[in-house]
Order: sequence, then C-alpha cells, then structure tokens
Amino acid sequence: MANNRTFTMIKPDAFAKGNTGAIIQKITNSGFKIVALKLTKLSSEQAAEFYAIHKEKVFYNKLIDFMTSGPIIAAVLEKKNAVDDFRALIGATNPEDAAEGTIRNLFATDVTFNAIHGSDSDENAAIETAFHFKNDEIIAY
Ligand code: PPS
Repeated sequence: MANNRTFTMIKPDAFAKGNTGAIIQKITNSGFKIVALKLTKLSSEQAAEFYAIHKEKVFYNKLIDFMTSGPIIAAVLEKKNAVDDFRALIGATNPEDAAEGTIRNLFATDVTFNAIHGSDSDENAAIETAFHFKNDEIIAY
C-alpha cells in the first residue's frame, strides 16, 4: 500500500457512548478521505490474530476482552502521510498523555478504553486493512 492510506477502528467504548459520528466528523474535517467503512464485531479469534504482536504483554487479556466487548467501526482512510498524520490526530495511547484536541484527549477514558486505533506503520496499515476489507470493498475516488 502506498503511504497515503491508514487503517482505523473506532473502539467499543467510543461506539457504545455514541461518539462515532463526532469522531468521523473530526477525521474527515482533518483532511482524511474515507475509502472503506464497516460496522463489525471482533470474535476472540479475530482479536487474538489482530493483536498477536502483544500476546506477551501484561495487558493482552484485558485488551482482547475489551476489543471483543461490542461493535467497532473499521475504516480505511486516505491522505498524504496518512499513518503519521492520523497517529498525531488520535494522540497518545494513554489519554492522560494525549495532546489537547486529539481524539483520545476528547473521547478516551483511560489507557484501555481509549476510543480509537490507528496503524503504526505503512506495513501494518496494509496488513490491518487486508485483515478487515477485501480489495473490492475499498473504493478509489
Ligand atoms: S506497546 O507496548 O508500546 O507496544 O503498546 P502500545 O502501542 O502503547 O499499545 C498497543 C495496544 O495495546 C493497547 N494497550 C492497552 N490495552 C489495555 N490495557 C493497557 N494497559 C494497555 N496499554 C496499551 C493500546 O491501546 C494499543 O491498542 P491499539 O488498538 O493498537 O490502539
């Protein structure tokens, strides 16, 4: 994937609180174009595969329980320098450290219930996109 796309999930906490619309508006107002979007719910198997890299972390079970606790919004976003610009828009993992006005600053509760995911590299953006979307579900326009 070229470096103009990233992958995101609006996490179960933000979806349950009714913050999906506000978050999507902030994303599009920040210059990201939505090229794929779906409401879905991760199974335990899907969450374990998606977060396999964190399997040895102390927070792994908590993360899997949380990410399978309710619906999520998965999306692919397009913008020049998408991965880095989106990580800046969402803010630090722990909302206590997230800059003012970032999505986690505005919508996250704590380091677990932190509202949103953003890919951390172009390589992972491509892997995570392929995990959730078939090629024909990504619309070039
Ligand atoms: S690390 O250790 O630097 O690789 O971790 P980090 O990139 O900050 O976070 C990886 C994902 O794990 C989530 N996370 C947590 N979940 C639950 N509890 C705790 N304490 C915790 N710390 C980190 C974090 O939100 C990341 O999820 P994604 O979906 O990638 O945002």
